[in-house]
Amino acid sequence: MKKVFVTGCCGYIGSHTCVELLEAGYQIVGLDNFSNSKREVLNKIKQITNKDIIFYEGNMLDKSLLDKIFEENEIVMVIDFAAYKSVGDSVKKPIEYYMNNVSSVLTLLQTMKEHNVKSLIFSSSATVYGNPETVPITEQTKTGGTTNPYGTSKLYVEEILKDLYHSDNSWNICIFRYFNPVGAHQSGLIGEEPNGIPANLMPFIAKVANKELECLNVFGDDYNTKDGTGVRDYIHIVDLAKAHVCGVKKLVKEQSGLFIYNLGTGSGYSVLEMIKAFERVNGVKVPYKVVERRPGDIDECYADCSLAEKELNWKATMNIEDMCKDAYHFIKNNSITNK
Ligand code: UD1
Repeated sequence: MKKVFVTGCCGYIGSHTCVELLEAGYQIVGLDNFSNSKREVLNKIKQITNKDIIFYEGNMLDKSLLDKIFEENEIVMVIDFAAYKSVGDSVKKPIEYYMNNVSSVLTLLQTMKEHNVKSLIFSSSATVYGNPETVPITEQTKTGGTTNPYGTSKLYVEEILKDLYHSDNSWNICIFRYFNPVGAHQSGLIGEEPNGIPANLMPFIAKVANKELECLNVFGDDYNTKDGTGVRDYIHIVDLAKAHVCGVKKLVKEQSGLFIYNLGTGSGYSVLEMIKAFERVNGVKVPYKVVERRPGDIDECYADCSLAEKELNWKATMNIEDMCKDAYHFIKNNSITNK
């Protein structure tokens, strides 16, 4: 039976994608080393879908493990989610970030080549656009100008994949540039579980609402935006996960090519709009104060997603209310489970 190999299968985006793939009837081989995820996620995936994945614990830098996985399973495609994603940590630990986010992809690509598996979906980020000159951002918008090793690692892998495709255009590669994934599966069983204090807006808001943190710091209200606070394109994680099912179908259909898609909703929301929506939808208070800007932040970032709609037949369907509701549901559920 042909299988999709999902690296980082227990992480935030990986776990939601496994659920959607299983529900669409795909068989999955998963790999994770739990560096930023929990083993229980495997049971939660099973609880939601009533299906198993073939799981291997380990690191993507482990070539002998990758060889074993490819030998033991008939893999036809790989979706690579295995990466570190903290901007702040990446500045402090560039070697670890480049090793884990770039060298590991080279190990994976080498293994894929040796086993003649040439279809890959790679998780990239809107961060590759740096500080865009104009919004909405299309796939043609200039990339570069990343301001931290995390962002640069994504940019480097994109360049490596382009070089690879140009060297051998029998490769079949899809690069997804995610905007700001938020929310959680409607079951409340899986969601975003950052270690320590969240660096991103939505998990921070949810923890303040749940009284696990006291107050949200709004990083600056003097940006060139509708209300002065930063504007981003938030996308529900389940919509994002579903895009991967469309990506798999696209690669099966095309056989070869290099495809790049923005995945967002196409709408920008400010930090203050997010706070208000969260309060309204969940009937809670989110105390906040405006503080200094966070270095490296930009005014506005939102996507033009028309290419994904046209070529993948995919479009985000969930709105900001769904995102706020599901993010809070997960945090409440999870804090009870953790007590
Ligand atoms: C961040 C990363 C980006 C990464 C993405 C993953 C930075 C500079 N960028 O994007 O590389 O791909 O996460 O999801 O870290 N905000 C607050 N208070 C907070 C947290 C955030 O006001 O406590 C504001 C930010 O200034 C920004 C917005 O909320 O305007 C969204 O921030 P965040 O969730 O961290 O995402 P990005 O900065 O867009």
